[in-house]
Amino acid sequence: MTVTRLSLDARRAPAATEAERRTRELETLHALSRAIAELLGERDVVERALQTVVDMGWFACGEAFLHGPAGLEPVAVGLCPYERVEACPLRSELQIDVEAVLREGHPRHDGTWHLVPIGGRALLALSGARDVSPSFLANVTELVAGALKRTQLHDRLAEKEAQRSRLLQALLTAQEEERGRISRDLHDQIGQALTALLLGLDRNLEHPDPASLARLKELASITLGDVRRIALDLRPSVLDELGLEAAVRRYARDVHERYGLDVAVLVTLPTRLPRQEETVLYRAVQEALTNVVRHAKATSVSVVATKGGSSVRLVIEDDGVGFDPDALAPAEMIGLLGMRERLELLGGSLRIESAPGAGCTVHARLPVR
Ligand SMILES: Nc1ncnc2c1ncn2[C@@H]1O[C@H](COP(=O)(O)OP(=O)(O)O)[C@@H](O)[C@H]1O
Ligand SMILES: [Mg+2]
Repeated sequence: MTVTRLSLDARRAPAATEAERRTRELETLHALSRAIAELLGERDVVERALQTVVDMGWFACGEAFLHGPAGLEPVAVGLCPYERVEACPLRSELQIDVEAVLREGHPRHDGTWHLVPIGGRALLALSGARDVSPSFLANVTELVAGALKRTQLHDRLAEKEAQRSRLLQALLTAQEEERGRISRDLHDQIGQALTALLLGLDRNLEHPDPASLARLKELASITLGDVRRIALDLRPSVLDELGLEAAVRRYARDVHERYGLDVAVLVTLPTRLPRQEETVLYRAVQEALTNVVRHAKATSVSVVATKGGSSVRLVIEDDGVGFDPDALAPAEMIGLLGMRERLELLGGSLRIESAPGAGCTVHARLPVR
């Protein structure tokens, strides 16, 4: 990290009376809280804290440290005439292990130095104290610790926001890809079958042939099955007409017929759920079962949906190869993250329980309005 050299004004005279000292303490805390109230970077916060306590006449000089990748690192020093921080005669007196002070979490006084750890993240090393009371230092620490916590929350929120937008992008791409796949299915599979059917019927109109007609009938029946499957993948009408249980059973039967996987379904919901909730739960089942088919090498899987209190719990458990969810980067789990995103949009949550060799259980929870 580069070290900022602050231009400090430490010429202010020490307070003459107790009342004056108290007033200046309050002024300092006020100035400090105003100065750091809207700062968004940890570094800015500790720099301003150092600047304020020196400028208000409490210390002659100082350094601010922040926790970085290589431990506690100096990020700002007072107006220092020395090219290298280490060359400052004050600094050479600072023999204490600042890391240890940060770990212990209590301020320490050593020679001309006050070492003030802040919230496990930062440390102010202040030199040349002028009539500083421990309670005042504690107040300063509390203010700065609060501001640091706020910057961390802000960073986490910003990171979460960025992650959301990456996920949204990935979901949109996945949606476009799915549309492309459906369009190809319709064109290649259904289109070709209907063309063959038309040609065959034409031939039969000229020279009727019962054997050929029987083949054409079979082709029509297979094509009808394909159309049903595509429609089922898109949005089964049974979900709207009969609800989640019927739609999940239908999907489970389809998975069993297509892939030979045993799917046990237990849905005990007293009433129909609102359309959005049914859709989100159905998509979760669809994604989880698709994952079982694609990745799990399982022999059986169960889908259980129950109502408990004011929410629905959905558990999909398979006996397959399992995986380590923590080992996946967000880009490798678009399906699972999309499932989580849709559930969270309606106030729900998702938990994946899996380990290599131990199957996988997907727990979804959704509050019901
Ligand atoms: N039931 C499961 N059994 C084993 N591995 C799974 C299971 N579900 C998900 N996975 C693993 O998690 C990864 C992420 O799943 P997902 O986000 O749905 O993405 P995708 O299915 O497109 O690969 C999968 O690639 C797979 O490695
Ligand atoms: Mg998937």
